[in-house]
Amino acid sequence: MIVGDGSDRLRAQLEAGELISLVERAKVLDPPRVPFIFMRMWVVINHKDQETMSMNSLLSEIYRTGIVTSAEGEEIQAFPAGVDRQLAEALYRLVRESKAKRTLEIGMAYGISSLAICQGLKDNGGGWHVAIDPNQSIGYKSIGKLNLQRIDFADSFELYEEPSHLALPDLLRQGRTFDLVFIDGMHMFDYVILDFFYTLRLVPVGGYIFMDDICYPGLKSAFAFICRNFKNIVSSVMITGRFCILQKIGEDNRDWQYYKPFESFFSEDD
Ligand SMILES: C[S@@+](CC[C@H](N)C(=O)[O-])C[C@H]1O[C@@H](n2cnc3c(N)ncnc32)[C@H](O)[C@@H]1O
Repeated sequence: MIVGDGSDRLRAQLEAGELISLVERAKVLDPPRVPFIFMRMWVVINHKDQETMSMNSLLSEIYRTGIVTSAEGEEIQAFPAGVDRQLAEALYRLVRESKAKRTLEIGMAYGISSLAICQGLKDNGGGWHVAIDPNQSIGYKSIGKLNLQRIDFADSFELYEEPSHLALPDLLRQGRTFDLVFIDGMHMFDYVILDFFYTLRLVPVGGYIFMDDICYPGLKSAFAFICRNFKNIVSSVMITGRFCILQKIGEDNRDWQYYKPFESFFSEDD
């Protein structure tokens, strides 16, 4: 099983937004479903020492000041749009430990998550990053793109400046695959389900799906749906009150009428 399915304790922890450690989860999950890599990663990202953000000086500076800068020198608040430091570290570590080469993110904004992912690719010896964001030029003044230029990653980066429901089918049609997909775009239930649907087809078995903001109502329901209905297809390897990391463990071979109700995954008053 993935999360839930008879585990009241896990469900309560999820509702409370508590961090669920792999050690606890390993008692509930099939041990083979918890890759060793994440046992190590868990230790690394929970280590109190915050040295990991020194992985990238621009990112360190953004976390120190809370500011990103446009091409014209305008200073803009990077948060709350950008991911927090813990998530950026988890992204970086995931890219590094999984030795990812091709990554995709849905929702780039000022490029905070992009910086963590792309620094990981650089430190892996190189790679290719694709970002999807319909608002990059106007809403975010192209600062996400600019930040990747600032770390010399512009030549290994591709932007789809359109909504994910248009860009993802294109990528699929092109036969593209990604070792890791980070979902942080539109936060409504239907959009997230679409993002997950296409992501599952863009990630090979063994690849990773990282979802931010699973505490938001739309994402929380989408996550409950995924946990209930995709338990043989994705395995949850890390969950915090804010984000989750899933690994694709098999192809989608559900029966055509397969469906597991998920509304009761969280308590009634959610
Ligand atoms: C929370 S922000 C992403 C933050 C970014 N990951 C970071 O760390 O800086 C959400 C992003 O989703 C983008 N977005 C909104 N609707 C979208 C859609 N339909 N498809 C893809 N991205 C979308 C927004 O333009 C915004 O950049």
